[in-house]
Amino acid sequence: MNILITGGAGFIGTHTTRALVAQGHQVRILDSLDPQIHGADPKFSAELLQLAECRLGSVLSLSDCMQALDGIDAVYHMAARTGVGQSMYEIADYVSTNVLGTAVLLEALLKKKVELHRLVLSSSRAIYGEGLYNCSSHGVQHPEIRSVTAMNQGDFSMPCPHCQAPMQALPTTEDCPSAPLSVYARTKKEQEDYCDYFAKTYRLPVTTLRYFNVYGSGQSLKNPYTGVVSIFFSLLREGKALSMYESGLPIRDFVHVRDVVQANLLALNAGAANQKFNVGSGVPATIADIARTQAQAMKLEAQLEDRGEFRVGDIFACYADLERSRRDLGFKPQMDLLHGMQEFVAWASGEASENLYDKTVSELRAHGLFGQARRS
Ligand SMILES: NC(=O)c1ccc[n+]([C@@H]2O[C@H](COP(=O)([O-])OP(=O)(O)OC[C@H]3O[C@@H](n4cnc5c(N)ncnc54)[C@H](O)[C@@H]3O)[C@@H](O)[C@H]2O)c1
Ligand SMILES: [Zn+2]
Repeated sequence: MNILITGGAGFIGTHTTRALVAQGHQVRILDSLDPQIHGADPKFSAELLQLAECRLGSVLSLSDCMQALDGIDAVYHMAARTGVGQSMYEIADYVSTNVLGTAVLLEALLKKKVELHRLVLSSSRAIYGEGLYNCSSHGVQHPEIRSVTAMNQGDFSMPCPHCQAPMQALPTTEDCPSAPLSVYARTKKEQEDYCDYFAKTYRLPVTTLRYFNVYGSGQSLKNPYTGVVSIFFSLLREGKALSMYESGLPIRDFVHVRDVVQANLLALNAGAANQKFNVGSGVPATIADIARTQAQAMKLEAQLEDRGEFRVGDIFACYADLERSRRDLGFKPQMDLLHGMQEFVAWASGEASENLYDKTVSELRAHGLFGQARRS
């Protein structure tokens, strides 16, 4: 097939391009090479230039989109700004790139009268807000965000909304209602909604993939907004202690980019279109687990510090229920956390990295989003 990947020069797009080309597809990339991701003098990599037809352009431009859709059979829509914290202060740009960019792409599909075999949308677990939990007295709950007052006092647990007892995180299913807690999350939900309207009205077969926390070789080591794995790597490499936000207790689902690529490939021909799938490892990991496993992959001893720090507005737990993805997409994640981290470390060790921790803290502080619990 002739396949267009918007944002194809990014982390997930680059891995996906390699895999699609290896399967015999022709790939075209439309990417604006955002300097935050690609540096001050952004260029397509020599590898991508060899593998794909690379076009510098924006999903915000109707003519760029229409030209990029020439002769295309399937589209992966990945172009987006992706920093959850940053989206809370660069609001207009996040809404523009993610929401308007999707609107322009859909309009281009319509104006160009392209009959796509499939549109695959890269969505996010962020649209759930908090994940699902169980209270031993009140059953399954989908709570709202925790109170900052409790967090300021060092209580980071998730209380039941009915009885205040601490709850246990459960795997989050695709049916969990959407409750976006950031501008970024809201834009991803809107991307889904616009694709849904379009799918229903114009019979466009859309497959929506809700990626959890993606990591692996090629992820940005410069962008301070997109990931704890890069932040920990820079600190570990400098022999510094790792500050465990919320005492290292928050639970996430770290899925290796190779498994995400597997889901992307399956989505191209997924039996029933217009479905939404979780793409995670299905394994809950605490932030402390991430730190220790990463240090193990680097053959270092992690020094974990609890300074009572937290990010205002962060969720406590969310990890993927994979029943639907396994059954209807045939998705089977292969990479466990240690092997995934070893793959990341083998690559990152040869790359320059910056101290991303100080950068994120100063940005969060500047916007009142950095918390520190008072402890007696
Ligand atoms: N990495 C994760 O953990 C994760 C998790 C959930 C969802 N996602 C989603 O997956 C997709 C890809 O994420 P990624 O991690 O590869 O991010 P990335 O930042 O590495 O890649 C995004 C790409 O989009 C490009 N881009 C930005 N604005 C554009 C525009 N106006 N026109 C064209 N291109 C533009 C950037 O230059 C970049 O190359 C995004 O939609 C993101 O929201 C990622
Ligand atoms: Zn309860």
